Amino acid sequence: MAGGGKDLWVVANFKSNFNLAQALDWVSQVGSKLERKPNLKVVVCPDFVALEEVKKAIQVGSFPLMVGAQDLSPYPEGAHTGEEASTQLKELVDLVILGHSERRENFGETDAQVAQKLDQAQREGIISLVCVQGANTPIPKGCKLVAFEPVFAIGTGHADTPKDTVLVAQNLKQKYGQSLEVLYGGSVTSENVKAFLEKEELNGVLVGTASLNPQEFLKIVEVSYEI
Ligand code: PGA
Repeated sequence: MAGGGKDLWVVANFKSNFNLAQALDWVSQVGSKLERKPNLKVVVCPDFVALEEVKKAIQVGSFPLMVGAQDLSPYPEGAHTGEEASTQLKELVDLVILGHSERRENFGETDAQVAQKLDQAQREGIISLVCVQGANTPIPKGCKLVAFEPVFAIGTGHADTPKDTVLVAQNLKQKYGQSLEVLYGGSVTSENVKAFLEKEELNGVLVGTASLNPQEFLKIVEVSYEI
């Protein structure tokens, strides 16, 4: 059984990559090969434009894949140009990534906004995956799933050590409760993923660059079958 009983998440974050045809091609290549495992949740987070078609393709293929968005509006539906409200996203997604360091750094996203977004997601039953850059990043009340993503490890090919990651996970659990599930993200590949997944304190991985290659992403998921 995946995870020996613990929940395991393998989340693909496409970021601002892929057009619709590429996203759909990925879904058919990956979806058709995935095995259904009781404790494993595999999530694909394409860009907003692809969400609806990706969701349809997963339903048509009956693939064991959940869908995630990479952001959502801190406000309810209304006069907020360019924003996607949780009421608009709820039919399309199971999960939303919040507070990614790229959004914090390049779009000025604040801890207060992350908390507002989590609140909006919760109202519509969307699971929030909050990205933290260390144990000092505040986690909003009600958050049950976080990804520890040290900035130096994102997109650099230099992952953090599993040992460091476990220390951060332990710190976070001490602060916010043992039931908090902590993922690791930052240059995860099929070569290094086992060392993270097998740590008791970790519940999975958030994968950027390596998720863009369907075969590499499948290899990462396959490693999770053996945990
Ligand atoms: P990376 O990105 O796998 O390319 O390092 C991870 C992330 O930013 O979620």
